[in-house]
Amino acid sequence: MEIKNVAVLGSGTMGQGIAEVFAIYGYNVKMEDISDEILNKALKKIKESLVKLEQKGQLFGKTSDEVMSRISTYTTIENAVKDADLVIEAVPENLDLKKKIFAEVEKFAKRETIIASNTSNIRITDIAKDLKYKDRVAGLHFFNPPVLMKLVEVIKAEDTSEEVMEILVDVVKKIGKYPLKVMKDTPGFVVNRINAPESLLFCLYIDHKVATQEEIDAYFKSQGLPMGPYELMDYVGIDVVYDSLEYFAKTLNPCYGKCNTIKELYNNKMLGMKTGKGFYDWSKGRPFIDVKKATDKVSMMDVLALEINEAVKLIEQGIATPEDIENGVKYGMNRPYGPISVAKSFTSMEIKSKLEELASKFNCDVFEPAESIKNGLLRDAIEGRLKVKGVEEKKVKEEAKVKEEKVLSAQQFNTIKVEKYESKVAKIILNRPKYNLISGELLDELEKAIKYLWNDPEVNVIIITGEGNVLSAGADLNEFVGSSFQFLENSRKGERVFQLLSEMPKLTIAVMKGYALGGGFELSLACDLRVGTEDVQIGFPEITLGLVPGWGGSQRLSRIVGLGKAMELIVTGQRITGKEAYSMGILNKLYKNPDEEVMEFAKSIAQNSAPVAVAMAKRLLNKGSQVPIDVGLEMESFAMGVLFSTEDLKEGIMSFLQKKKPEFKGR
Ligand SMILES: NC(=O)c1ccc[n+]([C@@H]2O[C@H](COP(=O)([O-])OP(=O)(O)OC[C@H]3O[C@@H](n4cnc5c(N)ncnc54)[C@H](O)[C@@H]3O)[C@@H](O)[C@H]2O)c1
Repeated sequence: MEIKNVAVLGSGTMGQGIAEVFAIYGYNVKMEDISDEILNKALKKIKESLVKLEQKGQLFGKTSDEVMSRISTYTTIENAVKDADLVIEAVPENLDLKKKIFAEVEKFAKRETIIASNTSNIRITDIAKDLKYKDRVAGLHFFNPPVLMKLVEVIKAEDTSEEVMEILVDVVKKIGKYPLKVMKDTPGFVVNRINAPESLLFCLYIDHKVATQEEIDAYFKSQGLPMGPYELMDYVGIDVVYDSLEYFAKTLNPCYGKCNTIKELYNNKMLGMKTGKGFYDWSKGRPFIDVKKATDKVSMMDVLALEINEAVKLIEQGIATPEDIENGVKYGMNRPYGPISVAKSFTSMEIKSKLEELASKFNCDVFEPAESIKNGLLRDAIEGRLKVKGVEEKKVKEEAKVKEEKVLSAQQFNTIKVEKYESKVAKIILNRPKYNLISGELLDELEKAIKYLWNDPEVNVIIITGEGNVLSAGADLNEFVGSSFQFLENSRKGERVFQLLSEMPKLTIAVMKGYALGGGFELSLACDLRVGTEDVQIGFPEITLGLVPGWGGSQRLSRIVGLGKAMELIVTGQRITGKEAYSMGILNKLYKNPDEEVMEFAKSIAQNSAPVAVAMAKRLLNKGSQVPIDVGLEMESFAMGVLFSTEDLKEGIMSFLQKKKPEFKGR
């Protein structure tokens, strides 16, 4: 069916915007409301908006009068819908009112007319509950203001037919918008559901007196948000926030009903900007928020973790795809990024521990981590590899294999392997199972591999890992024979090779798994970054053998964890777990399957960070930490001077301006 005639019921903020969009794109629009007075006001506003668009040349060569002539107004539903192909309801957010309107539309519309609601949160299935023909009812959720916002959520209720979904997705594309397919009906759909837990958190911050609204708003504004959360709630309307939270309390989780401050404001009719008072006094205009008052008792990480968590829950429940969730948040909230791309910088463990902290601090299970996050499957969830009920089942392992990087070339030494991948990542794999003990031969071969990769333009990042489940349990004690002099030479060889590794102009990442003891730990410390499992055993047992950590171990550890902690670990020979190492800053990331998960991390640096700048940054940090600050600053200026003449800098700046992905050449 081709949509030509559209009826819009309700001509308020959203109705008038929706009518305007359809008229701009050539549809005949019938707009309906309870009085001519209201309709005339709406027509006036539409005209004003069209004139502005016309002046900016955004009406595709049409005049505002031409567009206006496509909109007619009505005060009865019967006249508005009788020849409509599509009806969009945009009356106030009240289930009973919407049900009443839908029943009336069913009475007067043609059988094939599609009936859609622009509700913000109410399940479409509940609105359609008493209708005779439910297959033609769906959600069409526009964002405010509809003329500017690119997103429309297309919601499939329990009985909506596939054909109706296809027609609606098509019509949304025809009016120049992005259709986010909400494949299962849920309160708040996608974007408002992603927002719901953080709204709750903001209320609980105040209820629990974590800080004042000014201090919290100041913090979030200092983080780049255009409005603080409380200023925004006042702007949207405390009644709108209260109604949403109450609805989510009834339909999603009773915890949403816990917000005392919002309840109090609502009961005292302090509804924000519209009544002149809410969290702030608006009687003299927009409140001034002094960013100098920013508190450090709240954190952006709280909000990011909640958004990622809700996004994962939506994916697990088969409500939307990761791609649609990412684009939905970008287009629906006018942001440069969505929760899926943000999630790529975190491990399941990082998100899980933040969520558990919030859930226990506020005694609120809305903040509990999603199953996939609990089970270390964050990456599988955001990359669409979860088995989702009702959605085509994808086998996690098979998909992971398909996504595996293509090996460009591989070199087999006696004790190590070197693999180069298409993505400008290389792996050096210690290959002396079962413990990958570090022998003199392994050090010689590692030196060759480092020299072989040193200037390779096809490699930007090098991962150092071990064959099997262990990085390395240490030096091969079978070689602890011979004279003191031979032992000294052996020690120097390790120092030389590890120093070479730390100085190479490529970023190196060690994968700490199973054991990273003695030489294995020393090797990891010579790398620039370290990732690993929660349970990897890490330590310097040398002291218990009558030795001190060699191969740079006695020097590098204190530069990472500080003198006190390094002293403790070295003189006790104590082993720590990956989890402890992560909290001490030894590990940069915790992974469940580090060899698989580290590839994404390495790939993102190999492809998004300019290679010459990475090499410079590495030298600046490593050498800069050993010299007085004025010398370090001189090195920094020198590095800037060198980087200024690189092709990569030009590529980076041009790509940023043209909003495209840079292709760095390493020169
Ligand atoms: N305002 C937003 O930012 C926004 C964004 C997305 C979705 N929504 C949703 O869109 C819907 C409308 O919101 P709004 O902000 O446009 O509200 P609004 O109050 O600005 O407009 C509602 C309009 O409906 C009219 N109306 C009331 N009863 C009616 C009836 N029986 N028949 C016909 N018209 C009737 C009112 O006179 C008013 O003009 C709500 O469900 C809301 O949740 C709002």
